[in-house]
Amino acid sequence: MIDKLKELIAEAEAFSAQSKDEIEAFRIKYLGSKGLTRKYFSEISKIAAENRKEFGQIVNKLKVTAEDKVNSLKEAIESQEEDKGIYGDLSRPGEPIALGARHPISIVKNQIIDIFSRIGFNVSEGPEIEDDWHNFTALNLPEYHPARDMQDTFFIQTDPDILLRTHTSSVQVRYMENNKPPIRTISPGRVYRNEAISARSHCFFHQVEGLYIDKDVSFADLKQTLQYFTTEMFGKSKIRLRPSYFPFTEPSAEVDVYWGLETETDYKITKGTGWLEIMGCGMVDPNVLENCGIDSKEYSGFAFGMGIDRIAMLLNQISDIRLLSENDVRFLEQFKSVL
Ligand code: DAH
Repeated sequence: MIDKLKELIAEAEAFSAQSKDEIEAFRIKYLGSKGLTRKYFSEISKIAAENRKEFGQIVNKLKVTAEDKVNSLKEAIESQEEDKGIYGDLSRPGEPIALGARHPISIVKNQIIDIFSRIGFNVSEGPEIEDDWHNFTALNLPEYHPARDMQDTFFIQTDPDILLRTHTSSVQVRYMENNKPPIRTISPGRVYRNEAISARSHCFFHQVEGLYIDKDVSFADLKQTLQYFTTEMFGKSKIRLRPSYFPFTEPSAEVDVYWGLETETDYKITKGTGWLEIMGCGMVDPNVLENCGIDSKEYSGFAFGMGIDRIAMLLNQISDIRLLSENDVRFLEQFKSVL
């Protein structure tokens, strides 16, 4: 029996395993409640008294050897797993990355930029905290001009010359001051007005301003450019220009696009007329050109301005402007775009 035990000890010492299952099988075989160690311990009483001590020691050695083996194999396998943790299992399929969605305002803004860049317009930007000159005075809106009432303004209390811009038209002033014609630029950005917040209006929103200055620019160029835009943006080429008033353009017009009356939504958003107002525009007033250092006898130009939020709401049938700035992920996740 002693020989058999020595054999078992040698076997246990030589044992190796690749998996936790194999180690567990080994443990059960040697150390389990019906395992070899138990079995030999229970034989001790049958051994002749003079051999009992030696026998006991050998059975004990078997037990210790098996225990050491189980522990060292477990450790080895666990450290292998840790190594894997550092590098990952390189053959494992990649984990899906949750992609965010672009904001509906960014989507519309990028579409507008894309459409105008195809006909040579660049993108320009200006500060949101403006001075009176760039937001009003240079645009033919001197102090006390009644048209200033059209745009409720946030002024910085300590300095009435500093305000939050009420429109992106301020950027056309800056652009003309710093660039010589020919000019073709669009200026997207955030604007602010002191208005009560409701489903339809907010104290901040977004606009895109367009400006084209060159020799012999006519109203026909303006109309053609806008028609190109509505066709590309909405797939609608029928537009009309209604006479309007803006201090910085003369003549001025409001642009309506013919949306149609095919669906119930068409009825709703056009109030049953089929026409939808989308922007203001006009020929840049010669005074504005002169204010910005451009010779109005040599150059003429047109300008237009539109609200991005309004267009994003129209295209996505968003009924409350506040949703656009609440950053609710459930709302934002609905918008996906390549632009
Ligand atoms: N700045 C005007 C507004 O905020 C929009 C606008 C109208 C811009 C006509 C223009 C323009 O450049 O020609 O209501």
